[in-house]
Amino acid sequence: MMADAEKAVELLREGKVVAVPTETVYGLAADALNPQAIARVFEIKNRPADNPLICHFNQIGQISSYVKNIPDSTLKLMQHLTPGPVSFMLDLSEDSPLQFATCGSAQVIVRIPDHPLLLEIIERLDHPVAAPSANTSGKVSPTSAQMVAEDLGVKVDAIVDGGECRVGIESTILDARNAHEVIILRHGNIGEKEIRDVLPAAMVRDVKPGERGVTPGSKYRHYAPDTQIFGADSFKAVAHERKIALLLTQESLDAIDVREREKFVNHQNVFVVLGSVKDLNDLARKFYSSISGVDRLDVTQAFFLRADLGDSSLAKALQTRLDKIISH
Ligand code: TXA
Ligand code: MG
Repeated sequence: MMADAEKAVELLREGKVVAVPTETVYGLAADALNPQAIARVFEIKNRPADNPLICHFNQIGQISSYVKNIPDSTLKLMQHLTPGPVSFMLDLSEDSPLQFATCGSAQVIVRIPDHPLLLEIIERLDHPVAAPSANTSGKVSPTSAQMVAEDLGVKVDAIVDGGECRVGIESTILDARNAHEVIILRHGNIGEKEIRDVLPAAMVRDVKPGERGVTPGSKYRHYAPDTQIFGADSFKAVAHERKIALLLTQESLDAIDVREREKFVNHQNVFVVLGSVKDLNDLARKFYSSISGVDRLDVTQAFFLRADLGDSSLAKALQTRLDKIISH
């Protein structure tokens, strides 16, 4: 069933689970204060019960009553970067009702998403909304209502269609509880540069494996479409294959001789152009739909032609997703 914001709020109040748009990827939303609704999110996603959910708020003021405090660095970053594609780790207050969403962890990850429909839903509900990405565990995140419907279909009580996600990959997750350093727990569109613009003196670094308990995304290592995707270091390495999809950047495609390309396609292979390295925002926006689209092609397996995406935060974010998608 499709729902507008008003209907979604009604359903969330009844403890139902609704897929909602955000600027990053679609989320599978439940009232964050309702343990039964949260349990259903885990069931629908087939998500391991110890993997906590991000809690979404519509403004900074709403967060304060659920957490111990909002440290200065976190507050500054929130003021400058939210609503936006970035989430923050905070310490829960004692007996916080968010402990169900966090699976009993003493920390919560909070986010103020930049999507008018979800902000409206949270405001009307007047509770935070717990929402992991709206995909079956192990699959890629959905970036359109249609992708949600294809994966979860009737399992969800409703889907709110907010169009295609503007960013296309999951939010950056930061631990900025400490005044001196900001730890990147998960790479995303917001990176070191944006953080330094707000906190010029802070040290910004990647999380070390195991350093913050469950590092987002690191516990469950692989996600992918049903078609297996392997890495390829050169076109030559896969040129003789039949019935494969070759995922590559526009630049990689342009570098392949035209006759070689024709021969490849004549052998029932398909090129899947992910986008140009010169426009990673566009590539990121289409990324998950390109990847999951491979399942609809008449191919037996897929390869990704490795490419240097650069060293921007978005490049790092895309590279970490590719590393999880590629089978070894
Ligand atoms: O862009 C996003 O962040 C999307 C949209 C829907 O907001 N959400 C999202 O949620 O990507 P999810 O559940 O697919 O990824 C959240 C990651 C998971 O790897 C989870 O383990 C981690 O964050 N996480 C959530 N709460 C945590 C906590 N309290 N402590 C440690 N890790 C946490
Ligand atoms: Mg996810």
